[in-house]
Amino acid sequence: MPILEAAPAKLNLALHVTGRRADGYHLLDSLVAFAGMGDRVMLEPGPLSLRIDGPFAAGLSTENNLCLHAARLAGGEAAIRLTKNLPVASGIGGGSADAAAVLRGLARMGQPMPHHPERLGADVPVCIGSRPARMQGVGEIVTPLPPLPAIPLVLVNPGVAVSTPQVFAAMERRENDPLPPIPPFTGLADLADWLAATRNDLEAPAQAIAPLIGQVLKALRATGAAFARMSGSGATCFGLFDTAERASISATVLKQHGWWAVATELAPPPAPR
Ligand code: C5P
Repeated sequence: MPILEAAPAKLNLALHVTGRRADGYHLLDSLVAFAGMGDRVMLEPGPLSLRIDGPFAAGLSTENNLCLHAARLAGGEAAIRLTKNLPVASGIGGGSADAAAVLRGLARMGQPMPHHPERLGADVPVCIGSRPARMQGVGEIVTPLPPLPAIPLVLVNPGVAVSTPQVFAAMERRENDPLPPIPPFTGLADLADWLAATRNDLEAPAQAIAPLIGQVLKALRATGAAFARMSGSGATCFGLFDTAERASISATVLKQHGWWAVATELAPPPAPR
């Protein structure tokens, strides 16, 4: 029986950059959540191999791919099939989510989790849990949080790839304050209020590199988002909506710009397996 693992899109609802280590990596303080959609990974017993299908399969290497690096780091073997539904290099952790899904799948096949999944990428540790968490350090410190309400959400990517190192390099201030205390959230109103007191410190430098990000945020707000922000180092932005219907209308309008847009929700608590 093949093993199926969802690789949901990662969202940095807030992302503060609090410093820089001697090796150049940045210290982060981020509220991370997951969307109700993403890539999909299927594993079957067999020698290590990778096939990729799905709308964003083109351009991805089946040889130099994080899924394979993940399997090698775990010391496991499997025939992996990746269905790539998420735009690549777009701030929603696609590659990290895929690598994490491979690690979870291999664990179900009896392979222990590697001790340092962050070696695959800063977002891999938080993606292994795929649940709301506070992410600190350079990504390796993950503190799980209670489930978030299933708030309707739109993800939008304008089709510009921004380089993460370039965005970090373009930052003007690297020592910013940490996140304020994270309360339990009950709905859109209190989440949006808390988010308004936080930032994504990578949004301004990413927007300087790719001004289209500013247009995406404006369009999200114009189509009724109660809150809109860029995720990670961009260029994908998210908007939070008060109803699923509004989110769906917004996604339809944003697609007319020729952008990738999808209406989903903050991932509801995962069903027990
Ligand atoms: O770990 P990941 O592959 O996502 O990181 C891509 C690049 O982003 C790194 O090479 C580094 O330049 C930058 N980065 C950083 N600080 C982090 C995470 C990433 O400077 N905490």
